Order: sequence, then structure tokens, then C-alpha cells
Amino acid sequence: MCGIIGYIGRREAAPLLLNGLKRLEYRGYDSAGMAVLNGSMKMLKKKGSVSNLEELLNVSGTVMLGATVGIAHTRWATHGDPSDRNAHPHMNVSDDIALIHNGIIENYSTLKQELMAEGYEFESDTDSEVLVHLIDRIWKNDLALGLEGSVRHALRHVDGAYGICVVSSREPDKIVVARKGSPLVIGLGDGEFFIASDAAPIVEHTNKVVYLSDGEMAVVTRDNYTVKTIENVEQQKRVTELDFSLEKIEKGGFEHFMLKEIFEQPEVMRDVMRGRVRVEEGLVQLGGIHDYLDRLKQAKRIVICACGTSWHAGLIGEYLIEEFARIPVEVDYASEFRYRNPIVSADDVVIVISQSGETADTLAALRLAKEKGAMVMGICNVVGSTIPRETLCGMYTHAGPEVGVASTKAFTAQVIVLFMLAMALSKGRTISHEEIRLNLRELADVPDKVARILEQNDAIKEIAVKLKDARNALYLGRGYNFPVALEGALKLKEISYIHAEGYPAAEMKHGPIALIDEDMPVIVIATRDNTYAKILSNIEEVRSRKGRVIAIASEGDREIERLTKDVIYIPQASAAVLPLLTVIPLQLLSYHVATLRGCNVDRPRNLAKSVTVE
Ligand code: AGP
Ligand code: GLU
Repeated sequence: MCGIIGYIGRREAAPLLLNGLKRLEYRGYDSAGMAVLNGSMKMLKKKGSVSNLEELLNVSGTVMLGATVGIAHTRWATHGDPSDRNAHPHMNVSDDIALIHNGIIENYSTLKQELMAEGYEFESDTDSEVLVHLIDRIWKNDLALGLEGSVRHALRHVDGAYGICVVSSREPDKIVVARKGSPLVIGLGDGEFFIASDAAPIVEHTNKVVYLSDGEMAVVTRDNYTVKTIENVEQQKRVTELDFSLEKIEKGGFEHFMLKEIFEQPEVMRDVMRGRVRVEEGLVQLGGIHDYLDRLKQAKRIVICACGTSWHAGLIGEYLIEEFARIPVEVDYASEFRYRNPIVSADDVVIVISQSGETADTLAALRLAKEKGAMVMGICNVVGSTIPRETLCGMYTHAGPEVGVASTKAFTAQVIVLFMLAMALSKGRTISHEEIRLNLRELADVPDKVARILEQNDAIKEIAVKLKDARNALYLGRGYNFPVALEGALKLKEISYIHAEGYPAAEMKHGPIALIDEDMPVIVIATRDNTYAKILSNIEEVRSRKGRVIAIASEGDREIERLTKDVIYIPQASAAVLPLLTVIPLQLLSYHVATLRGCNVDRPRNLAKSVTVE
């Protein structure tokens, strides 16, 4: 999920790696570290920014002098708090193998138990560390395997996603790398090679790169590189010439972080479910709440507290938990909850949702709930942030760092976590095993469907052109799509500064209908579910007052075309997963409207990514 840079050549490795880490800083991270080989393995790592590591290098970096091979990492924690000891690289017991890892090892806990039973001692809480001990064990048992063979064998035991780089002082003139799910690219220099998680730290050295595909490994020496599959079949790779600027590479080729993050969603969604959802078995395994699940199931009431977009995710959580788990849910703005002397007792469970884990109002609501004796659970994106530290239990969203101020991928990740939670709370109580299986099937199909919606980006941009001069906009949705209408309106106002309101569609006639005229665009989420017919009537009401309708509808819906030309189609899906699909065109619509108006989408005026004040 975060940054990797490796170097092998003839130049001094440590300063080069440090510079590479600086190029990777834009991705967001919580700690940094490097290991180099100059006769023996030398490692430095530090919590916090790359400049902290740089200070350490200034003080103790002389030990690294003379090394011309090394690996370095910026970490975005998924397992274990951001700390010096959890930072990468990780080393084996004899300090002669070092490894950096991006991604998540799903079965790390089983592997860790096995290794510990054999006497392996762990120095970190990360999932990544198991890999280095596994490589060590395999190598010890069969010396002939060498570093490459040991890495290959180790990877056969691993489930999950990884981009890894491994070096060893036993074979000091090579770097072994492998990829599954986390990108890796090799930069081809003259008598030197670079390995990185994206081209940003490479482009200043060379524009010739080879992208590894999933399931491939490479052995990189000073003079050449070979690529094979993890099954040991040699691969011919195409050399690509980079032709875009550093700035574009940092954003994955996209104009803005927000667009990059919108497009990352299929992958992020898979990451959120990774190791947690087993469709065919109808199982959800939620490590962070496993020990508290019985208590959660016995809650008399669940109160969800959050702010902004996270609050919208909370509203979807209410619908999901009430429909499937039949536990009453209330959703409160954290800022309101904390000041209205709420009725909360030990029978209640309070769930706080926050991307940053630092939002002041949400944190205050959590502390108040604790004081009143409720059990508090967190759903957060930033590992080790304040909220997860103060909650009794919780789940991380694993959406990776979100740089754009307008939340997109963090929102869909929160909704998926709430969906999984609703299934875990329902299991064995309110719905059948078969129903759980079907719901999980629907959920697992979402990432591919989202990818199909993203393919309509150009068509959505054309619709945005029609919206760009509006002064107001109304978003309507019902049921599961009502919170999406709120989220769509928030996205538009935050980044394009067009005043927008979200409403449950049926509420329109109780007030907002007075606003409708030819200047008022109305964005209606009209997917085929149990309220479809009613939504069509709402559209008729808007049309008869000359309002302009933009509809989000289900694929195959011919009826809607009769009512408006501006339709964005989304794949068919069950009602409960619809928000994960219908929100995507709304994110894109806001993005395009904002860029067409010349707004700074990644840093909208007056807003901060993390609101740590009241
Ligand atoms: C989202 O686009 C907003 N920038 C904002 O509403 C945000 O969701 C809110 O401030 C809550 O942040 P949190 O999830 O980090 O707690
Ligand atoms: N899962 C690993 C960890 O928590 C790697 C995280 C990353 O991709 O940076 O340390």
C-alpha cells in the first residue's frame, strides 16, 4: 500500500534510497526505514517522516558507507501501530536477511503461530515479519535453494497481497523481488537497477522500466535482471519508456489525487474484504472484533457517531444493521451527541466511524460514550490514530492513505466494513446461512461492477458540462440510496462550491419542490428496487416544473430514457450493496464539475483533511 525503493549498482546506496523515499512521500505514510549491504547488513528505521530517518542517517549513517545495494520503505500500517519497531525493513534472527513489504499477509497469524512454535521470536506486530522468518526457515532447511529459491518457496505459503524486496548478506549482490496485488516496477539504468512501487523515485534516474505482473518474481543484480513466475517459469518482459512527468506519476497518471482515489476503488474494495470475506462458506472473519462479537450481538441498541462523509456511511450502516441483524440503530452527528446529554448505558454499543481517526468531535463522542459505560467500537482508516487507540475494539478499513480532502475511497471502504459487520451480527441469529452467502456474493461482485461504472467516466464528464454553471442542485434518493444522495450533495458543494442539498425523494413535496424551476438540476438515484415506481413519480413532478433531471439508473432500464436524456447506468445489484455503486457516478460528477469550474479539487477552500478542532 505504501512505498518501496531498492537500488543495486555502483553508487552509494543510502543517500540514493533516502532521496527515493522523499519522492514517495506524496503517498502518505507513517514510518520509514532502509537496509543496505556493505559487508554485513545495516538497518535504520524510524517512526514518522522521512526527515526523521534522515536525521538518524546524519547521526549514524556512516555505518552505511560503501554500500551499493539496499532497500527502503515508507510504511502505511495495516497490522500493528506505527512505531520504530513495526517500521520496515524486518530482519531474520541472525540479521542477515532483510525484507520490505507492501500489502497484507492474510494468513500471517497461522504462520506466526507455526514459526513461534519452532522458536522464532518476533520483534514487531506486523504481518510482514512472518515472511522474513519463513524465508529464513526454508533456506536453513535447504541451503541449495539460495535466496531466490527460499523466497519462491516462502511465497507458496502466503495468502494475501504483496510487493516485496528481499536482500541478504549471504548473497550480497542481488535483490529478490515479487509481486501479487501490490505494484512493483524495475528501472533499468546503466550498470544499475532500481526497484520501486511506482515510477516516481525512478524517473530522475532512467525512463526505461519493466512493470512486474501479478505472480511474478525478479532477481536483480548489478548487470542484469531475470523475471520468472512464482512457479519458476521464465518470462519475457517488455521495456516501457516513461513519458510523463513526475507530478503525474505521483498521482498514478491522474490529474488529481481525488480522481486517482476514485479510480482506486475496485482495488481498495478488494483490500477491505481481503482475508475477511469467504463467500462460498458464508463466512465473515473480523479479527478486530472477534472477541467482542457476542457482546455486540447482545446490544440493546447501537449508536453510530461520526461527522461528514463518515456520518453518511453510518446512515447506510443503520439500514444494513437494522435490516439484517434487527438491532435498533441510531445515527448521530458526533458534535450533536456530545453536547446533548445523550441517554447511553452499558447495554448500548457506540460505534464511531472516522477516516482519519483524529476528528475532534468524534473523539469527544467516543470518550463520552465510554464515560457513560457503553461499549465502544471504532471503524477507522488510519492505523494507530487516536480513535482506534481509545476504543475497546474495532476494524480498520484498509483503504490506504487518502490524500484528496474530499473523501471517496474511504467512504466506500467504510460501507463495506459496515456491510461485513451487519453480516457478522446477523449470523446464527436473524438470517439464514444461505442469505448470508447470497449477500456476500453480492458484496464480492461489487468491485468488478464499480470498475464497469468507472469506464463511463467520459460520458459522466459530458453530463458534468451541463451542470457546471448551476448555482444550486438537488440530490434525491430513497432507502439505501438516501444517504448516497446526501453524500453526492456534500461532494458537489465541498469541491465545486455549488450549493447542493440531499433529500429522501419523498420529502421533496414537503418543501424543496418550491425551489424547482428550469435552473435547478435534480440528480435522482432511480435504481430498480422496491421504491422505483415512486421515484419515477418524483421525476415526473420535477419535469412538470421544468426542472432538469440527471438520473442514476439500473442497466437495462428503458423506461427512464423516456423521462430524461441524462442517464448514468449502473449494473444491477441487490438493494443493500447499491450505495457502493450509485455513489461512484456522483463522485465523478462532482469531480468533473469542480475541475470544469477551475476549482482546486484536492485542496478545496476552507477545508482540512482532518478536523482536529471543534
Ligand atoms: C469528506 O469529504 C469531508 N472532507 C468531511 O466531511 C469528513 O468526512 C469529516 O470531516 C470526517 O472526517 P473523518 O472521517 O476523518 O472523521
Ligand atoms: N502490512 C504491512 C504492515 O502493516 C505493510 C503495510 C504497507 O503496505 O505499508 O506493516
